[in-house]
Amino acid sequence: MRVSVSTERLRVAVLLSGRGSNLAALIDAAARDLPIELVGAFADRADALGLTRAAEAGVTTASFDPRAYADKASFEAALFAAVEASGAELVVLAGFMRVLSAATVDRWRGRLINIHPSLLPKFPGLHTHARALEAGESEHGASVHFVTPVLDGGPILMQLNLPIQAGDTADSLAQRLLPQEHRLLKAAVRMFADRRVRLVNDRVELDGKPLSMPIQIQA
Ligand code: GRF
Repeated sequence: MRVSVSTERLRVAVLLSGRGSNLAALIDAAARDLPIELVGAFADRADALGLTRAAEAGVTTASFDPRAYADKASFEAALFAAVEASGAELVVLAGFMRVLSAATVDRWRGRLINIHPSLLPKFPGLHTHARALEAGESEHGASVHFVTPVLDGGPILMQLNLPIQAGDTADSLAQRLLPQEHRLLKAAVRMFADRRVRLVNDRVELDGKPLSMPIQIQA
C-alpha cells in the first residue's frame, strides 16, 4: 500500500480588522517551521495595522470597505472573491470584527476558523476579559473553532487555559493572554497544515476520528 503524504505547504489567508498580532505570529512561524504559505491578509479597513506588517513580510494584502458596497452580500462577495483568488485552503479570522453571513460561512464551512479570547462556550462576543472577571471565573483562555452561522458558536478544535490571578484587570488579563493566543493559533494551524483536522457533519475529526472534546493546552 502506498501512503501519500502531502508535503505542500498549506495555503492560509487571514482576515482581520486591526492590530494583527495573531497574523504576525503566523508570519513569523511560517518563516521558521510552520509549513504554511500565507497567501493573503484581508481587512475590512484600509488602516488595519496588521496589513502593514503583512505587506512588509511580502504577503499580498487588500482591504474592502463595507461602506463602498451596496449591501453586506456584495461586500462579502468582493472580499471572498479575493480570498478565493489567493488560493487559500484555510481562512483564519483573527480579530476580524464582522459577523459573516450564513451564505458565506456555509460556502467556506470546514475551511474557516476563528480565534476567540474566551473559553467558549463561555463569553461569545465582545469584552470577554471583563466578563470573565465579573463572572468570578478562576480561569480564562482562548479558543480556536470552526466558523458556523452562530456567532462564536461553531465546533471547537482547541483551547488554551489561563489561570486568573488576584488583582487581574481586563487589561492585565488581555495582555497575559495575547502571547498565549499566538501559541494556540499556531498549534491549531499546524494541525491543519499536517492535514490532521477535518470538519465532518459539523463534528471535528482529528486523524480521522471524531474529537470528543476540544484539545486543551495550558498556558
Ligand atoms: C485577539 O484577541 C483575538 O482573539 C480576537 O481579536 C484579537 C485580535 O488581536 N478575535 P490581533 O489583531 O491578532 O492582535
